[in-house]
This record gives sequence, C-alpha cells and structure tokens, in this order.
Amino acid sequence: MEGGDVVTKVIDARDLSARAAELGAALTQDYHGTKPVFVTVMSGALWFVADLVRQVDLPVEVDFLMLNRFGEGGRIRIATDTATALTGRDVILVEDIVDTGLTLTVLRKLIAEREPASLKTVALIDKVPRRLVDVPIEYRGFEVGDEYLVGYGLDHRGLYRNLADIWAVLDLEAFQAAPDALARVALTGS
Ligand code: IMP
Repeated sequence: MEGGDVVTKVIDARDLSARAAELGAALTQDYHGTKPVFVTVMSGALWFVADLVRQVDLPVEVDFLMLNRFGEGGRIRIATDTATALTGRDVILVEDIVDTGLTLTVLRKLIAEREPASLKTVALIDKVPRRLVDVPIEYRGFEVGDEYLVGYGLDHRGLYRNLADIWAVLDLEAFQAAPDALARVALTGS
C-alpha cells in the first residue's frame, strides 16, 4: 500500500493540540463559576477529552458512557452509563465525530430526560456534508468533508486509535486489504 494513494494526513497532532487549547479556553470562559461534568462518549472521544480538560481552568468532573447499536435501523442505547447523576448538572457531552447526526440526536435526548441544568456538545470533528438530522453542536474542533477518518481515537474496526495524527482514507478497498500498512506509514513515514 502506498501511503499517499490510500491515506493522507488531514489533521496534524500539533493542530489537534492547539485546537484543544482554544476550545478549553472558550469553555473556561463560558462555564466560569460552575462545575461542569464532561460526559465522554467512549471510546473514540477518550483521547480528545484527555487533551481538552487539561486546558480547562475550572473544577470539572470527567465521566464516561458507552453506546450500543442494535437492531436493523442501528438503534442506540446506553450500554454503560455514567457513574455521576446528571440531574441538575451542567453537562458537556464530548463526541469524537458527528457524521449523520443520528447518534448525537438520540444521546442528547437520553441525557435531556435526566434534566441536567444545561446540556451542550463539544465535537472534535463535524462531517458537515454527511449530516442527515440537524443537531446542535455548540463547540466544534474541525469541519471536514465525507472521507473516512482514523487516528487520535478514531478507529476502523478497532484499529488505528493510537495514531497521533488524523488520517483520511482515500481508497477504502486498498486500505482494508492491507490493515497494517497505515500504521507503518503513520509511524515511520514509509
Ligand atoms: P452518526 O450517528 O452518523 O453521526 O455517527 C457518529 C459515530 O460514527 C461517531 O461517533 C463514530 O463512532 C462513527 N464514525 C463516523 N464517521 C467516522 C469516521 O470517519 N471514522 C471513525 N468513526 C466514524
């Protein structure tokens, strides 16, 4: 697999870090005087939330939930819930990618039922052209096109979350045929 033909780097680790700092500064200002809880959607958003919260200069809590997709329509439910009770809290949902927007729509509804004091979303990546349902994203890291992305928490069949940068897959067939090649390109540049 030729790295350049099949995958291309789209967001550099330094840009990811700089954007986390900008978003962290905005959250520090907007949530001044409160103690928000960052509810992280596992597993993809784990890398992002770790960088983000270290840039927030407030007393914050960080919690996690895991989703499960089931049934033909890919219905979503919370498989592993937060340890924190969210009623009356300022909740900041942390997502890796908003693609069609369906996941975030369902999740916001499920969290809203718990009557938090406020509910906002931070999404690292907004795949704008793929959106099927309009859903609020109050803070976004980067807007991208419709390429499949991996790295910095984003996976393809469980792989590539450990890459420091974010890569777009240009040729999905070649990529799937040589699943080890991206790691080689990403880690060694060859
Ligand atoms: P949505 O419900 O279509 O908005 O899908 C959102 C979820 O799909 C994200 O939280 C990711 O888990 C997954 N996803 C969507 N696009 C990508 C991608 O390019 N790379 C990795 N995961 C993705």
